[in-house]
Amino acid sequence: MTFVVAIDGPAGSGKGTLAIGISKKFNFSYFDTGSLYRGLALQALDVHGENFTKNDVITLARNFSINSIDQESLRSSKIGKYSSIIASIPEVRSILIKIQRGFKEENLYQKGIVVDGRDIGTVIFPNANIKFFVSASIEERAKRRLIDFSERNEIISYNEVIKQLQKRDQRDKERSVAPLVAAEDAHLVDTTCINKEEALKIVSSLIIVELDDYMKINK
Ligand code: DC
Repeated sequence: MTFVVAIDGPAGSGKGTLAIGISKKFNFSYFDTGSLYRGLALQALDVHGENFTKNDVITLARNFSINSIDQESLRSSKIGKYSSIIASIPEVRSILIKIQRGFKEENLYQKGIVVDGRDIGTVIFPNANIKFFVSASIEERAKRRLIDFSERNEIISYNEVIKQLQKRDQRDKERSVAPLVAAEDAHLVDTTCINKEEALKIVSSLIIVELDDYMKINK
């Protein structure tokens, strides 16, 4: 049995940093599911250019392996935009569901897994042991994204980042399949006014309680 931590939230909310912090603290395996959509967007752009069709992406998704993708090239604003566009294709989502659920099977003998994305607590692992929905104000998220981009030498203005985030939020929240929404049983974590250490402390205390109960039951 594997203890599953599901973390969802919009771009720049701090969910990735939090997920990595949890995986280190609890020695859980970590899966950033956004990297699947980003990797597929990168392949679609490489193979077909910006005019790829829905069927082009579905064909690529059927043969997709994240291991063949260079992770560093996935973090640009262009890949962010196209990953959210392809994430609205229902056939793509149903193909990628298998890879995401497969991660739990691969880690069946590990103590736990932490998985972050947009639909982890609602669709991928609706029975996760604990769920978090991480958010922050759009201004704070844009500031964080600007720091990420400048570290990667991508020059982009604050206003442009705000516009990109608004568009991406809208696409992620309004798509017909698995839209970005908090699961009913998720703990809501607003990181606007707290730093990453404080956020990790808050979620860790909740995980410890849940994990204790889980260990007692599964002894
Ligand atoms: O978390 P991220 O910014 O790397 O995700 C990139 C895009 O991938 C995001 O805009 C929507 C999509 N995504 C998704 O639809 N479902 C997930 N579980 C993870 C990401």
